[in-house]
Amino acid sequence: MVTTRKEAHPGAADFVPATDDLDALAQAVQGCRGCDLYRDATQAVFGQGPPHADVVLLGEQPGDMEDKRGEPFVGPAGGLLHRALREAGMSEKTVYVTNVVKHFRWRQDPRGGKRRIHQRPDAGHIAACRPWWHGEVRLLRPKVLVALGATAGEALFGASFRVGKVRGTVLDWPIPEDWDEQPDATIAVVPTVHPSSVLRAPDRDEAYAGFVEDLRSVTELLPERDRIDGSDGRRGANSSGSVRASRTASLGCPGSTLRPGSTLGGEL
Ligand code: URA
Ligand code: SF4
Repeated sequence: MVTTRKEAHPGAADFVPATDDLDALAQAVQGCRGCDLYRDATQAVFGQGPPHADVVLLGEQPGDMEDKRGEPFVGPAGGLLHRALREAGMSEKTVYVTNVVKHFRWRQDPRGGKRRIHQRPDAGHIAACRPWWHGEVRLLRPKVLVALGATAGEALFGASFRVGKVRGTVLDWPIPEDWDEQPDATIAVVPTVHPSSVLRAPDRDEAYAGFVEDLRSVTELLPERDRIDGSDGRRGANSSGSVRASRTASLGCPGSTLRPGSTLGGEL
C-alpha cells in the first residue's frame, strides 16, 4: 500500500497534552503516533535534566542504546558529550539533554547482522516531532539552546542551515508566536557539531578540541552558578593539549567562522 507523507506523518500536535508539567509531557510521549517511527522503536526517549536548567542541548534522535534504555545520550556519543561539557566548564546541573526526534529510526543491517543501523530522520519526521521539543523548551525556557549537529540546526533554522558556517557563534532563535511571549522574543542558540561526528572524525583529537571550544562559547554566556569551580570556560588545556585561537561570540551577533568538519548525517 502506498501511503502519502501526510498519512505517514500526521504530526505530534494531537498527542501533546496542554500542560505546564514536564513529567506529564514525558509520560504522554510514549503514546505518540505522530509519525511512523514509533513502530520499529522500543520506546520514545524524552529529554532529561533539571527543570531549571539554563542550557538545553538538542540532539538528533535516540541511538541504539538510548532506544533500549529510554534515556538520551547514554551511548558512545553521550559519553563524549558529557566529557566535553565538563571540559568546557559547564556544570551538569545546568544541562538538560534532549532530541528533536523522540523515536529511534534505524534499518536492518543489509549484510544480515543483528546490528540496527542508524538512519537520519527525514524532514517529515523532524516536522512531525517538533511539538515535543517545543513543549520542553517552552517549559524550561533556557538561557541557551545548543544545536548538536545538522539535524538539530535544521529543526531550529530550516533546511538552509549549515553548521560549519556558524558553529561556536551565538544566533537568535525567534520564539514561536503561539507561546504567548513578548513579540520578537528570542532564545540564544549556539550551534556545534554532533558528538558522533567527533567519534567518526579522521583526526579525533582535533575534532574533539573544536567541539569543546564551541561549548566554551556556551559557558561564557552562563552565570557563575552554572560553571564548574567558577570556571570562565576558557581555562585549562583541551584533551590534545593543543592551543587554539579563542573566538569571541557575543549575544545577537552571529559571527561567521568557517571551519571544515561539519556533520552531514550518519549520526549515532
Ligand atoms: N545521538 C543523539 O542525537 N541523541 C541521543 O540521544 C544519542 C545519540
Ligand atoms: Fe511521535 Fe516523534 Fe515518535 Fe514520531 S518520532 S511517533 S512524532 S514522538
